Amino acid sequence: MSKRIVVLVSGRGTNLQALIEATQSGYIGGEIVLVVSDNPQAYALRRAQEAGIPATVLDYGLFPNKKSYEAALLEVLERANPDLICLAGYMRILGKGIVSRYRYRILNIHPSLLPAFPGLDAQKQALEYGVKVSGCTVHFVDEGMDTGPIVLQASCPVFDDDTPHTLSERILQYEHQIYPQAVKLFLEGKLRVDGRRVVTVKE
Ligand code: GAR
Repeated sequence: MSKRIVVLVSGRGTNLQALIEATQSGYIGGEIVLVVSDNPQAYALRRAQEAGIPATVLDYGLFPNKKSYEAALLEVLERANPDLICLAGYMRILGKGIVSRYRYRILNIHPSLLPAFPGLDAQKQALEYGVKVSGCTVHFVDEGMDTGPIVLQASCPVFDDDTPHTLSERILQYEHQIYPQAVKLFLEGKLRVDGRRVVTVKE
C-alpha cells in the first residue's frame, strides 16, 4: 500500500510543490494525502488544489490558544493516519503532544546548515554573521527549535553582494533537491536514528 504523507504549510509552498512533483513522477513512492495550513491565505493551498490534493485550513488566529489549535491539529493528523508528516515552510513550533505521538516520523526543512541559525530569518542571520557558506538541512523534528537529528544537508556559497532574498533563492534550489531525497529515503525505510545521528542504511 502506498505510504501516506501529510504536509504542513504556512506560506507559498515551493517545497510542497517539489514534494508533489516527486510523488507525481514516482521518484517518491508515496502519496500526499493531505495538506494542512495554519494560514488561510497560504499560496500552498492553491498548489494542493491544483494537484488535486485535499487541504485543511486550521486558521491559527481563530483558536483561543495554542493548546486548542494543537488539539485540533492532532485530530486532523490522526484522521489522516500518516506514515510521514513533512513540515514545508510551516512556521510554528509543533507542540510536545504531536512530536511525541509521531516521534521520528516528522521531517522539517530549514534554510541553514543547522545547528547554525535556527529559528526565523535564517538567511538574514547567516548574512549578518558573515558566513561564507550556508545551505539547508532536513531533520527530524524533536521538542526543540530546529534541533532534531539531521537527515541530509546541502551547502552553497554566500556571495559578497548577497541579500536575504538572493541567498534565500539560492538555498531554495537545494531545498527542492534534498527534501524529496530525504522523504524517499524515509519511505524506503533507509533511515535509522542512532542518538543524534541518522544513518542511511545501505541495501
Ligand atoms: C523555506 O526556505 C523553508 O526552508 C523555510 O521557509 C521557506 C518556505 O518556503 N522554513 C523555515 O524557515 C522553517 N523554520 P516554501 O513555502 O516556498 O516552501
